[in-house]
Amino acid sequence: MISPINLFEYEELAKTHLPKMAFDYYSSGAWDEITLKDNRAAFTRVKLRPKMLVDVGEINLTTEVLGASLQLPLMIAPMAFQCLAHPDGEIATAKAAVSASVVMVLSTLSTKSLEDVAMVDDGLRWFQLYIHKDRGLTRALVERAYAAGYKALCLTVDAPVLGKRERDQRNEFTLPPGLHPANLTKMSGLDIPQEKGESGLLTYFAQQINPALTWKDLEWLKSLSPLPLVLKGILRGDDAVRAVEYGAQGIVVSNHGGRQLDGAIASLDALPEIVAAVDGKAEVLLDGGIRRGTDILKALALGAKAVLIGRPVLWGLAVSGETGVADIINLLKEELTTAMALSGCARLEDIDSSLVICR
Ligand code: FNR
Repeated sequence: MISPINLFEYEELAKTHLPKMAFDYYSSGAWDEITLKDNRAAFTRVKLRPKMLVDVGEINLTTEVLGASLQLPLMIAPMAFQCLAHPDGEIATAKAAVSASVVMVLSTLSTKSLEDVAMVDDGLRWFQLYIHKDRGLTRALVERAYAAGYKALCLTVDAPVLGKRERDQRNEFTLPPGLHPANLTKMSGLDIPQEKGESGLLTYFAQQINPALTWKDLEWLKSLSPLPLVLKGILRGDDAVRAVEYGAQGIVVSNHGGRQLDGAIASLDALPEIVAAVDGKAEVLLDGGIRRGTDILKALALGAKAVLIGRPVLWGLAVSGETGVADIINLLKEELTTAMALSGCARLEDIDSSLVICR
């Protein structure tokens, strides 16, 4: 195929570059993949109401999240095992993020260590945390992330156990020789097991991740570092209110890209209730199904401060490493710029709920 011109073409091309086990792991959702598909469908249900005869000669995409200024309202979602897509994995993603001034959220389960990723210039990075049963290990991860200059802790709250991704079960998903969850292997020798008839990642979660985590544990987590806390995976207004009460400064409205509870509400559908409940007391971000500039516009119109992209980054990585990730970001940036111009919005502050109708 000639150079991809949109994120869907990147996915098609990436499929031809990746071993089946890796492509299936990246692309799949849980069980019947209803939520995975609905994350996309939700964007088609929202219609735009563009304003005409507005001066859109200059489009400004800058915004602020947790006090830091961003060049565009886009961040990179935490995703495990990026070296399955490209040998440089998370380092390539970090370089592309720095060049585009985009925040990268690094997964606990990265295949390059958080310290190695932190060596990539001084980009704005957050650390995503999975709380392990071993509290000492969890504490050490937080301390390492803080010491390495990560600017926020993004606690994933929608994965007390791993969602059942049947393609991974069928493939008996594990990491190929030479790849490890670098943050953990380095510190405590943990690795993704190989298991007959099961996904090794599912087994890892069952063995290592704490399924008994509750709101009360957030006090302990906050005591480990001065980093602001962002909760990722909130889908209800009442949980969002609690998140704020427990001191979260940010919320990522997310269903983990349809990989956890199948049948869960599409993240875009959950957004308005959460924005209303939070009432400006925390920053509300969204991920799940963002593939076009118009998707970003719709999410912002419904109250998100910024969005995160997941899988498209992996498609960019698989196709051409850092260059591919940079191109993914740039495609979305260009599409958002055009969509804003066509909607009569010169600045992000001009995007409000009057721009959309939800059916
Ligand atoms: C993820 N996601 C994820 N989330 C998280 O909090 N920690 C993690 O380690 C991972 N790992 C991961 C791996 C892969 C391969 C995917 C596709 C996703 C979820 C991710 O952060 C995000 O919520 C979704 O990917 C967003 O949806 P889209 O953009 O992929 O549709």
